[in-house]
Amino acid sequence: MQSVKAFAPATVANVSCGFDILGFAIDAMGDVVEVQLKDGPGLRVISIEGDGGRLPYEVEKNTCTVAIQAMLDELGQEVGMNIMLKKGLPLGSGMGSSAASAVAALVAANHLLGEPFEKKNLLPFAIVAEKAACGAGHADNVAPSLLGGFVLIRDYHPLDVIKLHVPQGLHCTLLHPHFELKTSDSRSVLRDSVSLKHSTIQSGNVAGLIAGLFQEDFDLIGRSLRDVIAEPYRATLIPGFYEVKEAVKAAGALGMGISGSGPTLFTLSKGAEASESIIKAAQEVYDVIGLGVDAYHSAVNIRGAYVLE
Ligand code: HSE
Repeated sequence: MQSVKAFAPATVANVSCGFDILGFAIDAMGDVVEVQLKDGPGLRVISIEGDGGRLPYEVEKNTCTVAIQAMLDELGQEVGMNIMLKKGLPLGSGMGSSAASAVAALVAANHLLGEPFEKKNLLPFAIVAEKAACGAGHADNVAPSLLGGFVLIRDYHPLDVIKLHVPQGLHCTLLHPHFELKTSDSRSVLRDSVSLKHSTIQSGNVAGLIAGLFQEDFDLIGRSLRDVIAEPYRATLIPGFYEVKEAVKAAGALGMGISGSGPTLFTLSKGAEASESIIKAAQEVYDVIGLGVDAYHSAVNIRGAYVLE
């Protein structure tokens, strides 16, 4: 085998109350990476499509090559590989763009090498890439992109990742307003400490969300989509945030939050039926603000990343 292609899905990280610890994958879109064996050692990024010429080709900056290099370092192997990246995800959107590239690259490279790692054991390498991309080694995009479904990162040291139950019919609508937010900028507005009061509120909601998933209690899921730690600061970076939230809830969303570090907003609903009215309601708000928006809706992706050929 000389060449392998893999797909990794987009993700919604944080899911409101779970800053850096919760995320889920979505079916709507993702990135494709092809990895090819080459003569001689060293990694090379050969082509990047769909990024408008903005992603780096330097191996120490590109998330695909950073991730693969971390894997090769662990193996102690010097294998030469060419990397071809096709972006299906917009950059700086909050839909886990850097994570999907790193995860697809790892899954392809691991397959090319005869699967020396179990899929879940690729996660630490993806986290190294995430750190290179945005300065923080958070796993709430890479873990669901790799493993699929709804994922909890219970701890980072050591890594303890738990797959949660996904209720039948849980549906996500994504609203991507036409501007970019870098994760590093969106993290820089956050505070270092949290009050006891806010910690109590946030813990209650994380617990409520997880209980709601396992009990398939959609109202409880909706009530638990509340974030008092990151959202109040990040909402100031997203025009119309509270107006859109009010409109989409009135249109049938269980709740709404910022997808990852934004500016994409996500809603959850029971079934796909509400998505059309959620999108229409959000679009009306964005029309008033004068901001374009792309909308997608999708079931939760259960499969995660996989080899294409
Ligand atoms: N948990 C990360 C953050 C996700 O909120 O900064 C970034 O997509």
